[in-house]
Amino acid sequence: MTSPLAALAPLVSSAIERALGPEFAGADPVLRPSQFADVQCNAPLALAKKVGAPPRDVAARIVEALDLAEQCSGIEISGPGFINLTFADGWLEGLVAAVAADDRLGVPTEQRQVIPIDYSAPNVAKEMHVGHLRTTVVGDALARTLEHLGHEVVRQNHIGDWGTPFGMLLEHLTDVGPDSAEAGLLETDPNAFYQAARERFDGDEEFATRSRARVVQLQAGEPETLRLWESLVELSRHYFNRIYALLDVTLADEHLAGESTYNDQLEGICAELEEKGLATVDNGALCVFLDGYTGREGKPVPLIIRKSDGGYGYATTDLATVKHRVQTLGADRILYVIGAPQSLHLQMCWQTARLAGWLPEDVEVVHVQIGNVLGPDRKILRTRSGTPLRLMALLEEAVATARRVIDASRPDLDEDVRATIAPQVGIGAVKYADLSVAHDSEYVFDLDRMTALTGNTGPYLQYAAARIRSILRRGAVDGASGAAIRLAEPAERALGLRLLEFGEVVESVGRELEPHRLCGFLFEVAQDFSGFYEQCPVLQAPDAATRASRLALAGLTLDVLVQGLDLLGIEAPERM
Ligand code: ARG
Repeated sequence: MTSPLAALAPLVSSAIERALGPEFAGADPVLRPSQFADVQCNAPLALAKKVGAPPRDVAARIVEALDLAEQCSGIEISGPGFINLTFADGWLEGLVAAVAADDRLGVPTEQRQVIPIDYSAPNVAKEMHVGHLRTTVVGDALARTLEHLGHEVVRQNHIGDWGTPFGMLLEHLTDVGPDSAEAGLLETDPNAFYQAARERFDGDEEFATRSRARVVQLQAGEPETLRLWESLVELSRHYFNRIYALLDVTLADEHLAGESTYNDQLEGICAELEEKGLATVDNGALCVFLDGYTGREGKPVPLIIRKSDGGYGYATTDLATVKHRVQTLGADRILYVIGAPQSLHLQMCWQTARLAGWLPEDVEVVHVQIGNVLGPDRKILRTRSGTPLRLMALLEEAVATARRVIDASRPDLDEDVRATIAPQVGIGAVKYADLSVAHDSEYVFDLDRMTALTGNTGPYLQYAAARIRSILRRGAVDGASGAAIRLAEPAERALGLRLLEFGEVVESVGRELEPHRLCGFLFEVAQDFSGFYEQCPVLQAPDAATRASRLALAGLTLDVLVQGLDLLGIEAPERM
């Protein structure tokens, strides 16, 4: 418990009980930020009616009972009955010292849960689009944060590696040969390969017939076809891994759990739902009808689990993901980091799974909804010619833009240092832009804005961290020095108070699944540091103790910034 508010709450709460009687045990002390002090207690206003006395009288009785000699230097009743509390500097210094001495920087270790996270999930032989980029970045930040909080995260990359298009893709691959330059497109420009197959399918009857026969062979598990399919998936995997490497995300091959992994279970899922009376045949298709899901004119919306041609679809596979994650992985909480438009699909799958008994009430499932990424015209981001964007090209452009920013701001740095920094900054900028807005809202993708060194951007935070590193280098300390941190000046105190919030902010990201809270916090840390550095000379401090204290405060700020960025999956360059 590192934040002053969290430390104070139980103390104020017990004073309320002492002052007002046992029926007020556990009353919310209603501690809120205050303009006039560090915090204000609004409980007197909240409780006055129940007590049957004016709020100011209630406040006086609570103040009488408060025993905060160590924690507060000022306690004052104001206005209609607030209690304004000012923290004692010595007490704050003790809390800051505890965080500085803690290698977790105040972040708690929570009771361990098993948490499968479904994220990224691109499709084989297709380009990853900006929507995939965003689920990859948000999912990865959540995975890192929840792991850091002590949970067992199981990454699940539900790639689209099955379905009818594979007939034409496999025929095309057979014709061009798996080692051809054309097949190589799968690793660099998958859409080009897909389009070529598509054009042949649409224009060449013989090819289309072969493709349809291929789908049947694939579904029947014909060995030669399966081998070919594996090489197709493998080529796509190389493409995904190149993107993941450039993005510096934690997804690896071992996290692949694509649609095809569930093939064997789909028949059983349908049979079980039929047996339980949950699925019925409608127009030849096996469907689940759920209460409360109706479309236009009150017509029930079906969840189709077996099409009239006997094939299984996206919904059946997702029912299998729920079963697998609960029964095999032992999930306590399951996250699906997926585009907002898929909300209905997920709700219907989950409700079906609940009815079937595959998703116990105590297992929480959450749709972490991903909002759209827009172009400057506020439409879905595309290239100027209107074709979907190549993600690799977009990321390369981000790195090039960052390189121009670095070249302009630090021409004094060696060429190879700037070459190392550019991807850290360019990719950091893209990731931060994805993470710093609420994951379910839209935002406009604007490389110039995201790579700017000022404003709420990734590069601004990276720059703040690099600047502190440079101060510490000049002050000849690395990281936390262990010197006592004093919070004498208002700017020191403001920074110290801010750093004390780190643990609770990380905890809230794990609870609410909103990485933008951490972004907002780190931005405030960087701004508070700027204020501190302007007001309080560090290297030129008036005396040795003050200098050591300020260097230690700068070191703690650096640790929080670097650790926070790391939880977001963003690197902090040594120099910038
Ligand atoms: N492959 C899908 C797409 O590109 C996303 C899959 C998301 N995960 C899931 N379990 N449905 O839209």
